[in-house]
Amino acid sequence: MTSSLTTAPLLPAPLRLLPPATPGTLVLDGGTVLDAGPGTAATARWLRSTVGAATGLGLPDGEHGTVLRLRVDAEGIGARLGAEGYVLTAGPEGVRVDGGGPAGVFWGAQTLRQLLGPEAFRRAPLDAGHTWRLPYGTVEDAPRFGWRGHLLDVARHFMPKDDVLRTIDLLAAHKLNVLHFHLSDDQGWRVEIKRYPRLTEAASWRRRTKRGHRASPLWDETPHGGFYTQDDIREIVAYAAERHVTVVPEIDIPGHSQAAISAYPELGNQDVVDTTALDVWDTWGVNPNVLAPTDTVLRFYEGVFEELLDLFPSAFVHVGGDECPKDQWRASALAQARIAELGVGDEDGLQSWFIGHFDQWLTARGRRLIGWDEILEGGLAPGATVSSWRGYSGGIAAARAGHDVVMCPEQQVYLDHRQAPGEDEPVPIGFVRTLEDVYRFEPVPPQLTAEEARHVIGTQGNSWSEVMDSRERRDYQTFPRLAALAEVAWSTLPAPAARDWPGFEHRMDTAHYARLDALGVAYRPASGPHPWQRRPGVLGRPIEGAPPNV
Ligand code: ACM
Repeated sequence: MTSSLTTAPLLPAPLRLLPPATPGTLVLDGGTVLDAGPGTAATARWLRSTVGAATGLGLPDGEHGTVLRLRVDAEGIGARLGAEGYVLTAGPEGVRVDGGGPAGVFWGAQTLRQLLGPEAFRRAPLDAGHTWRLPYGTVEDAPRFGWRGHLLDVARHFMPKDDVLRTIDLLAAHKLNVLHFHLSDDQGWRVEIKRYPRLTEAASWRRRTKRGHRASPLWDETPHGGFYTQDDIREIVAYAAERHVTVVPEIDIPGHSQAAISAYPELGNQDVVDTTALDVWDTWGVNPNVLAPTDTVLRFYEGVFEELLDLFPSAFVHVGGDECPKDQWRASALAQARIAELGVGDEDGLQSWFIGHFDQWLTARGRRLIGWDEILEGGLAPGATVSSWRGYSGGIAAARAGHDVVMCPEQQVYLDHRQAPGEDEPVPIGFVRTLEDVYRFEPVPPQLTAEEARHVIGTQGNSWSEVMDSRERRDYQTFPRLAALAEVAWSTLPAPAARDWPGFEHRMDTAHYARLDALGVAYRPASGPHPWQRRPGVLGRPIEGAPPNV
């Protein structure tokens, strides 16, 4: 608990912290009641199940005494701060959270939990006699971006459903609102599609797995796999919706498709390779086995997306589109005939035609296609939104052409990359991206005009999982950098050079690491990995005989 609300160590930083007319401290106790107005029932449930569990307070319904009052105020707060904005006021009568919409009320409730102190992030009270206080004052807050995301790659390493639900809680705790769910790749297919049972019977398991990065000579010979049933997905989506997190599914096409091809060989370029001999891929990198540009493939994936649309209400559906080598299409008489028949010029045109087909197909069903920035090559489909990952340039080109962009350049916000130089870091791939680097990341490049910049709808941190084979590994790579990304995505920060890095560090040190500790997150400590985190096997490094870190 902080002594003055105006210095509260909130993370992400809010728009404004205002002092009360008369200073004072509110005490929440067994007599505190909850008055949840229309549209706030989900937040009331969340408060009881989290703050209620941590504090031991029942927070029964009521309107008198010390009241936690939740209200949606679309005309007032909504008009001023948007549907995700909120005003939280603590005073002698209690706490009032007014949101521009139901989401704003929920983000305000998240702020309330932070104001109560790190102990409010536990699942049971440490001390029944603890006094739960918060200082009088007002928080006015609203997000900078509407898309504040995190990519979970459950294809390279499967993540059990419980861990997905826990991740959703962690996103919500950081006011992040998009879970980009990477559900298919060369190394595994992770979602039940009822009309294609082999996707889960066969394509969700691989025989063995490369240990470390792709140059490593080592293998884990244990079969690896798993998938979510359609009911699992419904549960994940509902759990996320209750927390105002949208789950955006990704099925990666036409590259990154070996797992699907191994289960249904007719999806591959059969006049070039014997696709019946393919297995779910057991190593990492860019795979040459891509989908064939045939009507059979289009119909197959329409079937996949039809089932996905039933499961995921998200306006956006991600179709991947990244890293699709064109060698098989160059060698395939069938693909060449398709290029000629369609008049699309070359292999890039063929990929563009492929993505364009699903842009039209999704648009006709009231959804929006999003894909990685390779979908710019050969011409961007009219309705497409771009996830800019190979730096800023794809995002700049897309925004200039009037397309929406999620800015997530590999150089800044790929959370699988190592977070410090030296030999202690467990990740054998990538750039060094420190917590401070992520904090200083700016999603809107200066080259864009104000009009073009409006197309940058947000940003996300991407946790690719080639080297993250356990919850500890994911936690270590993702946190605390996702906290910095959350502040970039939510807070209206000054230009990167002027950002208050010491202030962010101070809030991390005085409150946020303690919140993550209470939540049981195995983040990377500021001082470097703990000795236990360096133990072989715990974080994947050091592995005897593995080539040096690159
Ligand atoms: C990607 O990292 N291949 C999107």
